Order: sequence, then C-alpha cells, then structure tokens
Amino acid sequence: MSKFGFIGVGNMGSALAKAVSKKVSAENILLSDYSKEKAENFAKEIGAVAADNQTVAKEARYIFLGVKPQVINSVLSELCDTFAKRDSRFVIVTMAAGVEISKIEEALNKTYPIIRIMPNTPACIGEGMILYSPNSEVLENEKNEFLKAMSLCGKLLQLDEKLINAATAVSGCGPAYVDLFIEAMSDAAVACGLPRNVALELSAQTVKGSAALVQELKKSPAELKDAVCSPAGTTIQGVRALEEAGFRGAVMNAVIAAYEKSFKL
Ligand SMILES: NC(=O)c1ccc[n+]([C@@H]2O[C@H](COP(=O)([O-])OP(=O)(O)OC[C@H]3O[C@@H](n4cnc5c(N)ncnc54)[C@H](OP(=O)(O)O)[C@@H]3O)[C@@H](O)[C@H]2O)c1
Repeated sequence: MSKFGFIGVGNMGSALAKAVSKKVSAENILLSDYSKEKAENFAKEIGAVAADNQTVAKEARYIFLGVKPQVINSVLSELCDTFAKRDSRFVIVTMAAGVEISKIEEALNKTYPIIRIMPNTPACIGEGMILYSPNSEVLENEKNEFLKAMSLCGKLLQLDEKLINAATAVSGCGPAYVDLFIEAMSDAAVACGLPRNVALELSAQTVKGSAALVQELKKSPAELKDAVCSPAGTTIQGVRALEEAGFRGAVMNAVIAAYEKSFKL
C-alpha cells in the first residue's frame, strides 16, 4: 500500500486525513505540521505516524498540501530539492483555494503529477463534497488509488480545473453559510421559547433532511418549497419575511463574493 502524507493538519488537512485513515492502514499515513505537537497529538488520535515536512516529501506517494494559500509558496520552495531528488513516483495533492496547478509547477520549476482538489470540512464524517482535477501527468492507476483512499470523505467529482474557483465558492466555503443559517434559525427558535439544545437539533436536522430530499427526490428546491407552502398558511409567511429581507440575493452575493476573492488569493 502506498504512503499518504499530509503537510499541514489544520481544519481541512485533518478532516481529510481522518477520512483517509479509515481506508489506509495507520503506518501508511504520515502527518506533519508547523506545530510538531499538533501533528503528534493528531497522529495519536487517528493512529497515524507523526513526521516532518521533509520526511513526507521523501516517503509519501501522495503528498497532500494542507497549508494556507498564503504560505504554499514557502512550503514548496522548502520541498523543491527533495522532490527533484526523488527517484520514485509521487503525486502532489493541493487543496489551496485559488492556487492553480500551473502556479505549483512554476514554484517547483518542474511538472509533476498534481491533483488539485477542493474539499470541504464535512469530509471528516464522510459527508464531504470533494472536487478533483488531475493534471495530465497523473496516471490512471494513481487516480484510482487516490479515489479509493478518499472514498470515505464523501462525494467525489472530477471537475475541469477552470471551474474549481466556482466550486470553492459553493461547496468549499458553503459549510460556513449553512452554519450561519443554522445558528440564526436556532436563535430565533430560542426567542420563540425552545430550549437551546432542542432549537439546534431542530434547525440542523431540518437542513440535513431538506438537503437529502433535494438529492433523493431529484426535484428542484422551488418545487419542494411550493409543496410545503399551504394557501394562507404559516410557511408562506416565513418565506415572505425571507424574501423581504433579500435572502436569496444575499446568498447569491455571498457565493459570488467568495468566487471573486478566490482569484485574488
Ligand atoms: N477550511 C476549509 O473549510 C477549507 C475548504 C477548502 C479548502 N481549504 C484549503 O485548505 C488549506 C488549509 O486550510 P485550513 O482551513 O485547514 O487552514 P488551517 O486550519 O490554518 O491549517 C493549516 C495548517 O498548516 C500548518 N502550517 C503552516 N505552515 C506550515 C508549514 N510550513 N509546514 C507545515 N505546516 C504548516 C498550520 O500550522 P499553524 O496553525 O501553526 O500555522 C496549520 O496547522 C488552505 O489552502 C485552504 O484554502 C480549506
């Protein structure tokens, strides 16, 4: 079995490593982070091996870069010589928002097999949405091994790299928008008299159930919304209040703002 290495195990790197650890044996997962203690504690938690950046770059077949876009260049320049000296094949997996594969190649002065991914944090419980875009250097068997290791992250979908920034703005950033919605709905439920824990359970389960309905019934959200708005009923009044506040426009603006920002990272 190939080794899977993670450089940077913050929010996203750790979510992916956790899911990969359910498919790949512990001794084949290497974790490294700027904070050695963070890598060691997380390695203990998921039963993987703590390492440093150079060891990951030397030994892993799949090297996940889980650092912020602002520091990816300094990490790549630190690893550049190690990559150049390797005689075994390896695949770089980058998740940095807004950083194109061509920028990674430029920083490394060479074309390597690279898979650009755009994951999201629900991957840590197997409910993520992971878009991936391999460059032409990635072999079919490498793509298949990568997909097998990632299979418990959630849904995996290959996407043309030019659409990754759009995906970033929807599924990459989306958990934050949904969390805001769940929080607001819970606050309102508390204002209406429900205990906080009940309010949160109702709000989160409603979001989860409604999303599942869209996926399973394959109906448009508009159709599903119409079906629950009875004439002269309560729900249509709630919908009216959301429309008056510009809810749909606000959500569209959020996605477009994130999309535009992804070109400026
Ligand atoms: N968070 C998301 O929902 C999400 C979604 C999609 C894509 N992404 C992408 O995932 C990447 C990571 O984001 P994140 O939210 O997980 O950030 P994060 O929580 O800050 O994690 C980044 C980790 O990398 C570590 N690090 C920094 N410099 C390093 C170095 N030179 N060597 C090794 N480790 C280093 C950081 O350590 P310190 O904290 O000690 O600096 C931190 O633990 C980003 O490129 C982001 O665009 C994130």
